[in-house]
Amino acid sequence: MPIPIIVQGVQDGLSSIPHAYSVLKVAPWVLLLAALKYYFGGARNSSERVMHSKVVMVTGGTSGIGASVVHELASRGAQVILLTQHAPSDIFLVEYIEDLRKSTGNQLIYAEQVDLTSLHSIRTFATKWIDNVPPRRLDMLILCAGSSTPSSAPRRVTSDGLDEEWQMNYLSNFHLLSILSPALRVQPPHRDVRVIFTTCASYIGAKLDLTSIDTAPILSTESDPKPKATSKKSKSKKPTASTPKKSGGSLFASSKLSLMVFAHAFQQHLNAYKRPDGQPPCTRVLVVDPGFSRTPGTRRWLTGGSLWGLLFYMMTWPFWWLVLKSPQQGAQSILYAAMEARFGRGTGGWMIKECQEVDFARREITDEKVAKQLWEFSEKQVEVMEMEGAMRRALANKEKGNEEGQTAPTASGTKEQTPGSRRSRKTNK
Ligand SMILES: NC(=O)c1ccc[n+]([C@@H]2O[C@H](COP(=O)([O-])OP(=O)(O)OC[C@H]3O[C@@H](n4cnc5c(N)ncnc54)[C@H](OP(=O)(O)O)[C@@H]3O)[C@@H](O)[C@H]2O)c1
Repeated sequence: MPIPIIVQGVQDGLSSIPHAYSVLKVAPWVLLLAALKYYFGGARNSSERVMHSKVVMVTGGTSGIGASVVHELASRGAQVILLTQHAPSDIFLVEYIEDLRKSTGNQLIYAEQVDLTSLHSIRTFATKWIDNVPPRRLDMLILCAGSSTPSSAPRRVTSDGLDEEWQMNYLSNFHLLSILSPALRVQPPHRDVRVIFTTCASYIGAKLDLTSIDTAPILSTESDPKPKATSKKSKSKKPTASTPKKSGGSLFASSKLSLMVFAHAFQQHLNAYKRPDGQPPCTRVLVVDPGFSRTPGTRRWLTGGSLWGLLFYMMTWPFWWLVLKSPQQGAQSILYAAMEARFGRGTGGWMIKECQEVDFARREITDEKVAKQLWEFSEKQVEVMEMEGAMRRALANKEKGNEEGQTAPTASGTKEQTPGSRRSRKTNK
């Protein structure tokens, strides 16, 4: 079809082809748009790896970039364990897994309930995992869950009383890996085990001052672990004794920088372990910046969580379509980190961006002193918050017990009978 038109254009001139001048005027713009779209789409992963029999644990695998990663790995035959905040009986989760199993032709996709905003939930899952005898196989841990609060929205507080961004993006990963560390170290030496953290370019401008960072009450007064005054403006999921002050947009960046410092320190911690079989460590840590993508999380951030924001987003959608990656494009660097063969060797601790290894842009990430400070600080924060959480749960159980105690037993000490029940009819005879 185009060849006869071109021939006609050459023989009879452009004016003989209807709309030829209009098409020629528009063509460069279409080409420019296509070139920009290709450029902003980022690098494509070209590495492949046999994923059959590999056990991959994923946080944040139910939406955005994480969901794309899960789809790709499951399509290649990996056994996927989704760590999600939803109960396994949740109808949306059940449907999501069924769809995933159908579309990937892989039945080995499961979910475990782990609410990353609850240290107790993480501990319950992780201790159950490491208590398994013999130790369970684990080939990969991909940490894609994240939270970013729009700067115009009130700060959200977790059930542990910490800022949601801090706990979700950093502390939950610290807590999960601290408990799962033995499960990683016990994997056989020939196994290529990878832990993949996701970060964001905002870490480059982040502040990491542990004495002033405003994530929770204990941070600003290390000697006094008691909660500070509650901010009335804060919107908490559950009312807690302590609510962090609004700290601007910087806490997200600080949590990502902290995550990277921890990722590097975690690799050193794994490398320092002397295996009983004398073999070198088999777990490598990788930090991936997926690039800005059109995910539910980004949309929430761009719209500021408001209807006006949503309207603005919809009106400017063509711009975001052009400059932001799709979730599938955002997943490419993570897939590269998961499948590139050379990351199965060496001492680990690499950073990946646009499907290539890059240097860390902040020297604190490799600074042992900063890592030690952060590690001790995080351990203390987890310890204090878990202790407070345990006390809250014990108190709630006691109150519940008291309420049941008041209603359940009858004066004779026997169980109260439900009117009309078989037992009550028998007694009344
Ligand atoms: N998108 C970007 O532009 C971009 C850029 C740079 C870096 N990153 C990083 O890439 C990662 C993925 O980003 P994304 O935009 O794809 O994320 P997203 O769309 O916001 O998805 C967040 C994921 O976290 C899960 N999650 C939320 N709260 C949870 C909780 N309490 N417990 C367990 N899971 C919870 C969500 O599960 P539900 O589905 O159940 O809510 C969801 O699967 C993040 O670490 C992010 O910081 C993203």
